[in-house]
Amino acid sequence: MSTHKTLLISGMFLLVVHGATQAQEKRIVADPPALVGDSEELMPGSPAEVSGENGGFGVVATAEEIASIDIDVTPGGAGLPAGSGTHAIGAEIYEAKCSVCHSPDLQGVAVLGGPRLIGGRGSLASDKPIKTVESYWPQASTLFDYVNRAMPLTLPGSLTADEVYSLTAFILGEADIVDTAMILDKDSFAEIVMPNAEGFYADPRPDTP
Ligand code: HEC
Repeated sequence: MSTHKTLLISGMFLLVVHGATQAQEKRIVADPPALVGDSEELMPGSPAEVSGENGGFGVVATAEEIASIDIDVTPGGAGLPAGSGTHAIGAEIYEAKCSVCHSPDLQGVAVLGGPRLIGGRGSLASDKPIKTVESYWPQASTLFDYVNRAMPLTLPGSLTADEVYSLTAFILGEADIVDTAMILDKDSFAEIVMPNAEGFYADPRPDTP
């Protein structure tokens, strides 16, 4: 091999080694992570967290972050927030935020896909079952939970607890399930009995909860 070629090859080798060392150095001497805003929180995936238990993936959620998505309300009423509402207030909110898609008489607006919310009681076993909150839903907690998390369709999560209590009182009042004078809150919720409460049975398969 000529001296010229040997020099060229060793030069290339040095370049490669040098590049690798540089890349490695770069990772080790990276700048300390920037702070997010003026909190003490580190940027996700920063070297300090790489050494943590989760291998550097994700950040630990704060109590507020968890609370903001921990909104489920179970059939026993667990998870119902503080607050209260009435049929009268619910009627106003419904008119402003719901009637466009569910119609003022709660019978739905087919062209917009908004289902009817009341009626159809006793129709489930017929040839033309009409499934609504009134006729089909076995638990009132589902109504609170669903409206709270998913409605209005265009702005889910925007309603306050008081508004959801009022809308629940309104829909159930229009369906003749509760008295329209009822003040709905965490405690009075337990009094509600849905017409189809007994229409479901536990799934007997062993692998289902
Ligand atoms: C922009 C239209 C729109 C608006 C406004 C709207 N909804 Fe709905 N709503 C829908 C649609 C569409 C569905 C069906 C969603 C689905 O099946 O996935 C629905 C479903 C529902 C259901 C479940 C009905 C069932 O039997 O499955 C309830 C209860 C409900 N909405 C209540 C409300 C309330 C209360 C408001 C006002 C705060 C509201 N909606 C505002 C479009 C709307």
